[in-house]
Amino acid sequence: MCGIIGYTGKKNAEEVLLKGLSRLEYRGYDSAGVAVLKAGELHVRKKQGKLSVLAEDLKRAPLAGNTGIGHTRWATHGVPNDINAHPHVDHKRHIAVVHNGIIENYQQLKEKLQKAGYAFSSDTDSEVIAHLISEQYKGDLRAAVRTALKQVKGSFAIAVVHRGEPGRVIGARKDSPLIVGLGEEENFIASDIPAVLEYTRKVIYLENGEIVDLSGDTCVICGPKGKKIRKRPVEIKWDISQAEKKGYRHFMLKEIFEQPEVLRNIFKERIKGGRVEFEELAIRDTQIRKIKRIAIVACGTAYHAGLTGKYMIEKYAKVPVWVDNSSEFRYREPLVGRDTLVIVISQSGETADTLAALREAKDRGARVLAICNVLGSSIARESDGVIYTHAGPEIAVASTKAYTAQLAILYLFTYYLASVRKVAMTDGRSFLRRLKRLPSLAERMLAQYHSRKNILARYAAEFHEYYLARNNKSCFLYLGRNINYPNALEGALKLKEISYISAEGYPAGEMKHGPIALIDENPWVVCIAVQADTYEKMLSNIQEIKARGGIVIAVVSAGDKTLRDSKMNYLIEVPRAPEAFSPVLVAIPLQLLAYHVAAEFGYDIDQPRNLAKSVTVE
Ligand code: AGP
Repeated sequence: MCGIIGYTGKKNAEEVLLKGLSRLEYRGYDSAGVAVLKAGELHVRKKQGKLSVLAEDLKRAPLAGNTGIGHTRWATHGVPNDINAHPHVDHKRHIAVVHNGIIENYQQLKEKLQKAGYAFSSDTDSEVIAHLISEQYKGDLRAAVRTALKQVKGSFAIAVVHRGEPGRVIGARKDSPLIVGLGEEENFIASDIPAVLEYTRKVIYLENGEIVDLSGDTCVICGPKGKKIRKRPVEIKWDISQAEKKGYRHFMLKEIFEQPEVLRNIFKERIKGGRVEFEELAIRDTQIRKIKRIAIVACGTAYHAGLTGKYMIEKYAKVPVWVDNSSEFRYREPLVGRDTLVIVISQSGETADTLAALREAKDRGARVLAICNVLGSSIARESDGVIYTHAGPEIAVASTKAYTAQLAILYLFTYYLASVRKVAMTDGRSFLRRLKRLPSLAERMLAQYHSRKNILARYAAEFHEYYLARNNKSCFLYLGRNINYPNALEGALKLKEISYISAEGYPAGEMKHGPIALIDENPWVVCIAVQADTYEKMLSNIQEIKARGGIVIAVVSAGDKTLRDSKMNYLIEVPRAPEAFSPVLVAIPLQLLAYHVAAEFGYDIDQPRNLAKSVTVE
């Protein structure tokens, strides 16, 4: 959470910083600020609210200068207001710092500094860093940062400037991401690549404990012990236009509609001559054959993808799988060892809990495989092997294309696992052929949702009216069984995160064990009843809900006559596909339903309240 950026070169720093921050706003958006150096002076401007508030303010009174740092915040310590916004300065206003992470011992440090006469102005943990650097400063900013950070416990990515050292930006990281962008007579640091991609494709990933010292034409990197090290930049292949809205009203909508293309690319890239290939896997076949069990560890949407993976792997590759939330896995004593493959799934590759779970698994001797979207992210780098989803940048906070891409990779990995372990798959021959049909099926389905007046938009409008008529009393329940149970959880998560409507996902078979008590005329119940072995069971669930006055949105396979004829309140048809692959097709209209409900309520779909795209703090 929080995005940071630093720039030094010949351009107007304010402009570069604002542009960069606009590409990092997905990381946090409750306040923003910049600090710019000019002619021995340090100018700081920061504002509560979205980046646009700061941009307006800077338009009225611009800050000139060619070196600066910027920040977009997701509050952890201290409410979002102008004072708590970054950059933070030391008491002399010589040093400015932006920080992403959490300083765990900030209370002790603050008390110590206050006793020594340092006056604090904010409620943040980050401000201690500015004072600590000031305390250590003896004319060399890099040396001061290095010594100051020795006292700090917790996670950080920081960018620092000093008014007496024009043209110099220092960056450092521990457990929060930081990249360096190398330009022509200009250099950058940032939390993530899109912030610098307009200016350079040459990027260096900083590791924990490293410090970077930038000027317009130099880049010095020092290791944890202060020794200079050489690091080779990587060339970023993707385009900044992938991070634009391309005519869609929201990034979320654009990303939903990108799914057929993402799936098509995944299958094209990974299926070669009737075989599945994972070039970057880096785990040998002999090791894969020795695996006794698999643990899948992830958060949020990625966790739901993992749950679907369990159904697939156990059914087809016959390896026992359990799935954990990363935040639980890391704090219990998981029974993983050399015979366990731990699969961590993460879109961003920076989720703090998943990263910690990965380290825990490695400490216990397990092999770790990451399924990850962001190239070179911390999770991808620290795992033994990685399979990239290559879904392109996902900007909307609500994850959509990353989810179906994760599902696609899990299908392919299941097939790969079964092949390597020589497990005969029941429908092995047709598996890949049928899988490859998913992109066109998804494309055809999405074609009917292009118009603004599509059926899901209508359902959303009717829900909105219903909700208001009942004094905001309605809510949603999502029910699914077997391999579509994770989609019930995912559908509910999508709705609540962007529309703030209470929504719960349940395995339909659990209804009688409690949740059925919720059913009256208030909740809208989304029942996933596509063609499946448990179809009849779902029909019974639906009847039980209808009998109690519940409003049902049934998600059915195209051509389903039973439910069409039995007076469902609402129907959503998805193309027919083998049950195992239906989760991809079911997920898409559920994403769109959530999208349209949020749009009806007029909420900020891409940047929902209280959330951030990468959760880089615990
Ligand atoms: C999904 O819509 C959420 N915003 C969230 O649950 C997300 O999936 C979770 O934080 C995990 O993120 P990651 O995939 O980047 O690790």
